[in-house]
Amino acid sequence: DFMKEISGFSLIEQHLKDKLQLDHAIVVPGNSDDHDWVKQDLGKACVQYLKSILKQKQTVAVTGGTTMAAVAEMIKPFPGANKCMFVPARGGLGERVENQANTICVEMAKKVHGEYRLLYVPDPISEEAYQSIIGEPSIKEVLEIIRDANIVIHGVGDAVTMAKRRKASHHILQKIIDGHAVSEAFGYYFNEEGKVIHKVRTVGIQLEDLYKANCVIAVAGGKSKAKAINSYFKQGKGNVLITDESAAKELIRGF
Ligand code: BG6
Repeated sequence: DFMKEISGFSLIEQHLKDKLQLDHAIVVPGNSDDHDWVKQDLGKACVQYLKSILKQKQTVAVTGGTTMAAVAEMIKPFPGANKCMFVPARGGLGERVENQANTICVEMAKKVHGEYRLLYVPDPISEEAYQSIIGEPSIKEVLEIIRDANIVIHGVGDAVTMAKRRKASHHILQKIIDGHAVSEAFGYYFNEEGKVIHKVRTVGIQLEDLYKANCVIAVAGGKSKAKAINSYFKQGKGNVLITDESAAKELIRGF
């Protein structure tokens, strides 16, 4: 069954923990680049892990993306989850509605009969608009909840793929390419050494906030994401990785 298959990867998981300096690594079989069911298994594994760590009255912040959409698809009610709050990690990043953090957050909260709060801020905005929005009392209140989240669950993407998917301007795309960004997570773009190359200006969790969370879980698989995953963990603020066999093997092999 599913758990048995997972435990078959305990050696790979140990390698990953050492290589990326993680507290915990979970590997599911297959390559999510090729098969959607692998992404669903990533979702299942994430739900299972969440179940094992989530305590009553905690806040869970989630990002968008197709992998996180699979987590939302797989979640089912479990004890204590109805006493928890789900929030989007950051404001709009230019994703399609079904891949937006707000959408995924509502789906997860509804399925476990928990609570949720949403962020209504437009996609990348001007400095002026940004300052006035974060001053709004209703936004401020949600932002405080988000930035104090106990658990953060997010996807990791390839930098250029994500910039294109979000229809970044020519100028930004060039900055990402020139800066040799390889990974992206919640609107931050990182190079191979984990240095921030570009950051989308939006409200919500900032990189520094990750230190305060009890647990920061990255869910990302597919051979094509191995480099991105490696780069993301170089900046050292995440502690759990849920990935698939192909990404894991490529990560361990090195580039
Ligand atoms: C985004 C997250 O919504 O999903 C990013 O904010 C991540 O952190 C991206 O890079 C990954 O998307 P996908 O579709 O590959 O899971």
